Amino acid sequence: MCDNMADLSGAVLEAVNSSEGVDTKDLASQLSVDHQKVVGAVKSLQSLNYIVAEQCVDKCWQLTDEGKSIADGGSHEARIFYAVPSEGIAQAEIMKSVPNAKVGFSKAMQNGWIQIDKKAEGGPKVTKKTESITDTVQECLKRVNQGKDDMTDAQKAECKKRKLITEMKLTSYRLKKGENFSLKIMKQEVDLTPEMIQNGTWKDQSFKPFNFDALGVPPTCGHVHPLLKVRAEYRQIFLEMGFTEMPTNNFIESCFWNFDALFQPQQHPARDAHDTFFVSDPQYADEFPMDYLARVKKVHSEGGYGSQGYNCDWKLEEAKKNILRTHTTAVSTRMLYKLAQQEEFKPVKYFSIDRVFRNEATDATHLAEFHQIEGVVADRGLTLGDLMGIIKEFFKKLGIEEISFKPAYNPYTEPSMEIFGYHEGLQKLVELGNSGIFRPEMLLPMGLPEDVSVIAWGLSLERPTMIKYKIDDIRTLIGPKVDLQMVYDNPICRLDK
Ligand code: PHE
Repeated sequence: MCDNMADLSGAVLEAVNSSEGVDTKDLASQLSVDHQKVVGAVKSLQSLNYIVAEQCVDKCWQLTDEGKSIADGGSHEARIFYAVPSEGIAQAEIMKSVPNAKVGFSKAMQNGWIQIDKKAEGGPKVTKKTESITDTVQECLKRVNQGKDDMTDAQKAECKKRKLITEMKLTSYRLKKGENFSLKIMKQEVDLTPEMIQNGTWKDQSFKPFNFDALGVPPTCGHVHPLLKVRAEYRQIFLEMGFTEMPTNNFIESCFWNFDALFQPQQHPARDAHDTFFVSDPQYADEFPMDYLARVKKVHSEGGYGSQGYNCDWKLEEAKKNILRTHTTAVSTRMLYKLAQQEEFKPVKYFSIDRVFRNEATDATHLAEFHQIEGVVADRGLTLGDLMGIIKEFFKKLGIEEISFKPAYNPYTEPSMEIFGYHEGLQKLVELGNSGIFRPEMLLPMGLPEDVSVIAWGLSLERPTMIKYKIDDIRTLIGPKVDLQMVYDNPICRLDK
């Protein structure tokens, strides 16, 4: 008896090894195992090409419930016969006391086992006509039950007609050795591991084939990351204020658009490898609007538009270097240049919210990448008052009413202001962002009209998100340490407006 699948598979292999052409039906009775279990083992060995299994369909006879009760207790006619005492019995009596008496009585009469005296005193009387009988029906059925198929055609027809047997189809398999036949079952690996590749064992290893019919694990539904929830809120505010979103889908930018076009000197420390990630392949960008590039070079090295410039060498090679953009102001710059190329200037309000990269040491509040939110307004005659007004309006929509400004420095804006807001929870002013009016050295080489001013401001998306979701270490918000449960559990973002 095989009690587990491995034993059973082993037994099947042994059987095939000693006699090819063995049939699963015979094997099942030899091993005293349910035929279906043997078939299960055969199927798995077949899928590994250990054996080849050829299907055979056999017909066989099986007893019906009535047939089974006859095999156990005798046919109805025999029961009638044995119920008749030697002195005889009233027909009415025997019909009451023996089950299935009607069939039994007529069969017993047909067989000549009993006789009936219809004129007897007190009603028809039954007596035996012979001393002993052979219950062939019971014997036949017993043999069928033992799996023997030696009934005569007449017996078969009779049993079938009396619904004592039914014909069954039995599918079994004739087994032969397969291509990979072996007495030992090799464990099939499910995964190719780095170790197998390193020590070369993958070459001799057998791998479980993919089961493309397997049902997959139902995916759990997706969740929006807190940063994206807050981003959606900011986007909504910009849209309400009539701003258009800028295309920010280029993480890689040339130094030209990221720095030079912004009048950021080539010697500026922010352009140093310590702050900027340089791309090694392709190392350089080579498509620039060359006339504009020449004007940028001139304003840096010689000055112009009423500015004396930086008065030092400006190298094309430096401007061509590819980097991971350090701010989304690079995108604003491209958009302003595009705007300047239009025949007639039209005022615009642009915004962007996307990722930027800085080569910083990571700590609780800094990562090497973060998201910037940036707003840009270009119009004729804009003043610092417009900038302060629009920033106030913007933060008011975020629920921050008390805003103050502090003079600051950016190479590309003049004046520049840091933005502070009163944080109710912390009970103090916190820095919210940076802002300014773009310098003429940046705007005029683009070709924008002289009376057009561009005001802009920028802030990080991470800071308000951390405040909103009470996260005090930025590394738990983005990066490998993120706890997905935090993402699943955080509610949608509703800024208290
Ligand atoms: N680019 C600035 C930064 O990276 C933000 C800024 C945008 C400042 C626009 C002024 C104007 O911090």
